[in-house]
Amino acid sequence: MKPLAMSLLSFVAFTCFLNGPAFAADKPEIDPAAITRPQGYKPYAGDARELAVLGEKLWNDTRLSSNGMSCNTCHANHGAFQASFAKPYPHRVAMARDKAGVKRVHLDEMIQACMVMPMAAKPLPWASKELAALTAHTSKLQKSFRSDATAPANPCSVRHANPCALRPVNPCAAK
Ligand code: HEC
Repeated sequence: MKPLAMSLLSFVAFTCFLNGPAFAADKPEIDPAAITRPQGYKPYAGDARELAVLGEKLWNDTRLSSNGMSCNTCHANHGAFQASFAKPYPHRVAMARDKAGVKRVHLDEMIQACMVMPMAAKPLPWASKELAALTAHTSKLQKSFRSDATAPANPCSVRHANPCALRPVNPCAAK
């Protein structure tokens, strides 16, 4: 009887460890693999000007999301970008860290993070022309970004009333 009681106890303890609040709190809402460069990653390499043109088109394309948004819906005039966007990549971005547990992101990883979270879509194929194009366009935007100029135009900022949070389906929330 005694060994059985012992193993029952340790089984219960183990199950509590797996399902307990500590474990649940640590589990990210978003699978970090979805927004992390795969092993042996080779980004699409193409004509820079062509990529920039395609990138600007995709930036405004609502078909990329499942919720009617385009990147520009939130990021027009540098809206929604936080101070971290001014820093060279890779760097820490609150959204990636809080929702996916990813500590530092490259620019293309951040694009995937916005695809998966606010755009409520699948990540783009890593070696795709589309991801390279959006990376080229976003990199261009980063050059003219100043962290002190973001606040007024930011629809999803944590520092201001968040209109996304008022809608029944919150596009800023992770799906
Ligand atoms: C519903 C609003 C929304 C949409 C749509 C959206 N984003 Fe974002 N994005 C955000 C927010 C909010 C942040 C700030 C996250 C943070 O700093 O924690 C952000 C941050 C970023 C950053 C900068 C992160 C940094 O600080 O380095 C990039 C780059 C970015 N988004 C790219 C995109 C791209 C590309 C698209 C379209 C595929 C897109 N976003 C669509 C809300 C959005």
